Amino acid sequence: MSTAGRTSGHEKIETNNFLMIVLILLVVAVGGIVEIVPLFFQRSTTQPVAGLKPYTALQLAGRDIYTREGCYNCHSQMIRTLQTETLRYGHYSMAGEFVYDHPFQWGSKRTGPDLQRVGGKYSDEWHRLHLNNPRDLVPESNMPAYSWLMTAKVDDATIGAHMTGLRRVGVPYTDEEIAAAGESVRGKTEIEALIAYLQVLGTSVK
Ligand code: HEC
Repeated sequence: MSTAGRTSGHEKIETNNFLMIVLILLVVAVGGIVEIVPLFFQRSTTQPVAGLKPYTALQLAGRDIYTREGCYNCHSQMIRTLQTETLRYGHYSMAGEFVYDHPFQWGSKRTGPDLQRVGGKYSDEWHRLHLNNPRDLVPESNMPAYSWLMTAKVDDATIGAHMTGLRRVGVPYTDEEIAAAGESVRGKTEIEALIAYLQVLGTSVK
């Protein structure tokens, strides 16, 4: 509103595109910082939950296969705090369960069920048959078959370097674990690694 030929501050901003854009960016930036920065300092988001262990070399190799095959395109790993979710999948996900996950596999699309607490739900043999051809166990399934995992061998040459990289971002691997990594996965099939990974998912929380 202008009074006696004088333009109010508000009108100046609203009629000046450039000023409006700069001020919007400023407000969004401050709002974002206020929401995000505390997460870097809260124990509940930065400290592992009690009982959380870094992935073993074999589990880590399995996790690499999980990302390589794009399982996250159909499966989330994040149980929300809603009763419909916790009744179906178990305890809701907590930030402290993911501190050793780089990058995390939360995902947002669920063509298939959430996998965050699938560890221990089925036997290794069930997973082997299911991954080889899901329709053998779940006739109506539209999940792809991953039959080549039955014979393909885990890459034992790079797993130690992967663990060294993860240690740099805070995963507490020891020198001994890293030195023994290649040897411990040598000759294992990719299906063994992937199942080892699936079976540990979500098991640090009872
Ligand atoms: C095109 C989407 C799609 C992709 C990609 C996919 N899945 Fe699935 N998955 C499904 C669907 C749908 C189901 C439910 C039917 C079934 O059990 O087969 C399922 C079920 C599962 C289950 C059983 C979960 C439970 O609680 O019953 C597991 C374990 C699983 N998938 C693992 C994987 C893994 C590991 C990969 C990657 C190698 C993968 N899926 C890739 C769609 C997919």
